[in-house]
Amino acid sequence: MRDRIIVTRQPPGRAVERLDSHGDVWMWPHDREIDHSVLEEKMRSATALYCMLTDRIDRDLLESAGDLKVISTMAVGVDNIDLDACREMGIAVGHTPEVLTDSTADMAWTLLMAASRRIEEAVAYVKNGQWGRWEPGALLGLDVARTTIGIVGMGRIGQTVARRARGFDMEILYFSRSPQPHAESEHGAVRVEFDELLDRSDHVVICCALTDDTRGMFDADAFARMKRTANVVNIARGSIVNTDALRDALTSGQIRCAGLDVTDPEPVPADHPLVALPNCTVIPHLGSATERTRIAMADLAADNLIAALAGASMPARIV
Ligand code: DGY
Repeated sequence: MRDRIIVTRQPPGRAVERLDSHGDVWMWPHDREIDHSVLEEKMRSATALYCMLTDRIDRDLLESAGDLKVISTMAVGVDNIDLDACREMGIAVGHTPEVLTDSTADMAWTLLMAASRRIEEAVAYVKNGQWGRWEPGALLGLDVARTTIGIVGMGRIGQTVARRARGFDMEILYFSRSPQPHAESEHGAVRVEFDELLDRSDHVVICCALTDDTRGMFDADAFARMKRTANVVNIARGSIVNTDALRDALTSGQIRCAGLDVTDPEPVPADHPLVALPNCTVIPHLGSATERTRIAMADLAADNLIAALAGASMPARIV
């Protein structure tokens, strides 16, 4: 009997065509997230699931899916999937590391620079006709070169952010559960405790995975430790940061600015107070959003799924 593959959203490129020759594919036909009730119904007979980071794959859903052998997510982050339940039920899980590392690190740098140099305010200044003459004191921002960057999470993306920081002659601090000797020897990064990183960094870049340990890690106490000139960039997951605490820190001048690719809630409503702040640049979870990267992610997710169905080892298996 052919495998029954559920695809929760059209991925870019030819991934679905490739899946077609390995089973009977059903794909959510709309250009928005799949309705959870539809996913529940489809999962009852699925043997494989190709999903997105926006799909909630919880224990209830997994328990209703009697024949499921594999989940392949088109993302590196897997916080939307109950991995413990997958382990218990013997469901293989694949994800898409490596292929998005450069694009996501580039986006961290885009936000770091944009927030530091007040690009959003500057663009509005021009568009609103405020640019009357050159002003010696208008829109002054923060330095990047020869400052200190603090990277929270020194995995692949954190290390790539660090590599780029060397080009700006920055001092590189990092906080990570375990030492990362490669980051230290290759990029001169120095491992410090979280509090020290907050105390000393001019730019704090959040690159860690969302786990029970990191959820809400950036709270009012964390912001209170930072320099009043600090810039906070989050390219990881929104709920690592307590949104109210961040809003308060940005409003009160506790920190200078922020650049967010991810938010909590996500999507953040257009009328959310964070969005209105002039010192907060918010973009809609675009870390991996280049054509080449998204196609590579779609293909790797297909490779993972096809390999698992064939009983072969998945190129990027997490469970
Ligand atoms: C991921 O893959 O987890 C990223 O957040 C996508 O940009």
